Amino acid sequence: MSENEVNSAIASSWLDEPLSEEKNIEMSLLLTVLDEHFGYSFRYYSKNSLARSFARACSKFGLEHMSDLIPILLHQPRRLDEVIDAITVNYTQLYREPKSWLSFAQSILPRLYSYPSLNIWIAGCSTGEEIYSLMILLDEHNLLGRSNITATDINPWVLETAASGVLSQSLNQKDRDAYQQSGGKENLDDYFVGGRELITPLKRSLESVTFKVHDLCQGPPMEGMHLVLCRNVLIYFTREKQKQVVMDLENSLVPLGYCCLGQKERFMQHQGGLKPLVETQGWYKRFR
Ligand SMILES: C[S@@+](CC[C@H](N)C(=O)[O-])C[C@H]1O[C@@H](n2cnc3c(N)ncnc32)[C@H](O)[C@@H]1O
Repeated sequence: MSENEVNSAIASSWLDEPLSEEKNIEMSLLLTVLDEHFGYSFRYYSKNSLARSFARACSKFGLEHMSDLIPILLHQPRRLDEVIDAITVNYTQLYREPKSWLSFAQSILPRLYSYPSLNIWIAGCSTGEEIYSLMILLDEHNLLGRSNITATDINPWVLETAASGVLSQSLNQKDRDAYQQSGGKENLDDYFVGGRELITPLKRSLESVTFKVHDLCQGPPMEGMHLVLCRNVLIYFTREKQKQVVMDLENSLVPLGYCCLGQKERFMQHQGGLKPLVETQGWYKRFR
């Protein structure tokens, strides 16, 4: 697929088909409750993506209409976590998009040795598989010890899982294959006890990871980062918001710092100083 074809495929995925007037009203009421009552602003999410998320939440609760979620939120606020879980898409896996990890191992990691310490931000880290994937590769290249990792997500409940060091699902062959394709040097099983829990040395390193609730749409961005991973998050935002968040990611980097975006987020036009590294899959460098 040429770059132009990819660009237009992505552009068309951003085009929202119009929602009915009733659905628009329901969505707007629901967004108001989430924002004004709970401080979760989903106003910058593409409407179609939100409609899909709310439909998922409705089916989880056995409800017919989006607006039926409102009384649950207002009168059973303890169920907020279930609603947020249904709205935010938490799908993740170890070594997701292996080609991008391979680029990291081959092209980015060797350029990081010159830094005495590394500030790394994983934005939208979900349940932690991305953090563990990164930690293992950093460890294999003797860079984990000098890395200060901050992992953020809008959803506080996924952060709890991420901090536990336990995989959401036991290791499977797909994980093992993805690790090998990502340039992993060892046996992935050796990093997990019982196929699920990080081994003690990695768990100790996980204790020094800073976990923070952070909303990419409302910032402020982190600062002084050498490396930022923000993958498969921007895709849910409106196009305008995507542009602004990419600017924020750029500003969070030190000059010559690196940023990685997800496979479907890569070809966004960007006027700033963040430029794609042609020899890599999904990696950008801040050039000014
Ligand atoms: C599909 S997962 C991607 C996880 C991981 N980055 C990966 O590529 O496998 C998207 C994650 O982004 C988080 N997220 C959604 N909206 C966000 C926002 N506004 N700010 C920060 N994180 C957000 C979700 O809670 C979810 O954990």
